[in-house]
Amino acid sequence: MIEQIDSLLSQARAELSTAADEQQVEAARVKYLGKHGSLSGLRKGMGAVPAADRPKMGKLVTDAIAQFEALLEETRKSISARALQADLQREKLDVTLPGRTHRRGHRHPVSQALDDIVEIFARLGFHKADGPEIEWDIYNFEKLGIPADHPARDMQDTLYLEAPVRSLAGTPATLLRTHTSGMQIRYMEQHPPPVRLIAPGRVYRRDNLDLTHTPMFTQVEGLVVGEGVSLADLKGTLFVFLRELFGEARELRFRPSFFPYTEPSAEVDISCGACGGTGRDCGMCKRTGWIEILGSGMVHPAVFQAVGYDADRYTGFAFGLGIERVALLKWGVEDIRLFYENDLRFLEQFPL
Ligand code: DAH
Repeated sequence: MIEQIDSLLSQARAELSTAADEQQVEAARVKYLGKHGSLSGLRKGMGAVPAADRPKMGKLVTDAIAQFEALLEETRKSISARALQADLQREKLDVTLPGRTHRRGHRHPVSQALDDIVEIFARLGFHKADGPEIEWDIYNFEKLGIPADHPARDMQDTLYLEAPVRSLAGTPATLLRTHTSGMQIRYMEQHPPPVRLIAPGRVYRRDNLDLTHTPMFTQVEGLVVGEGVSLADLKGTLFVFLRELFGEARELRFRPSFFPYTEPSAEVDISCGACGGTGRDCGMCKRTGWIEILGSGMVHPAVFQAVGYDADRYTGFAFGLGIERVALLKWGVEDIRLFYENDLRFLEQFPL
């Protein structure tokens, strides 16, 4: 029997030493100490031991069971210690690794050009206002002296809404604004003179994409109204503005033009930065030495009448320019579509 106890104990010890988890420990416990366990079975076998040997044998069995229990406990502990170690290993943090950096975003070049422009006019005392991109016919056309069927409507190819959008005021918006000039009307209807307005925003036209056209682009509208505002003020203001934006070296030229809401009207060119205004072999200005930059003029008296201003008392000037155009010239970008493709390789080239 002594041999049996020894061999059971060493068998149990060997088994526990290979136990990898709690379940295997528990299985060993059941196997040796359970109801039908082999170590517990020794107790039942005591009846066959001669009475004189029983106390000695009983003690041997009890010791063996105690040893096994201690072994069980030890094994459990070392298994949970191992599990903890594994957890720690998994959660290990290397504080010497370099941190994850955040990539800085860039302001879009069109936004930068727009901000620059608005900033210059803010310094000149202009007030900035925003207006809706879906617009009423009266603001985009009618009150600017462009009634339905007027040939001037062909100057800009309009995108009409499939279903008009009703506004609170009752008048439905029927189109996407083709220019920011409607903001002149909207603003004057709400504010008495004097006016110094700058109105930036997106505009839409039925143009196909090419090097110089996108169906959506950005404009800035300007409007100044007061007593005695003259063509000289228009020239002076635009001169200051364009030199501020493009630098002192640029020349300006006013070219007579036509817009229904201004009289007289002028388009303004700046001397080409690529060829220094000579035009020699220059693709940028198509060999003319000049680049058209904006439309402008003295506000037509009919526009004042449409908004209820006294056309005998007040005069004013207005202008509108395309921001993408400015950005193209400022950074020498050759394809306007780049501004709307959101290719990071392009966008990241601009200053923050
Ligand atoms: N609205 C014109 C355009 O989109 C630009 C323009 C011309 C605006 C003359 C004006 C202006 O305010 O007086 O081409």
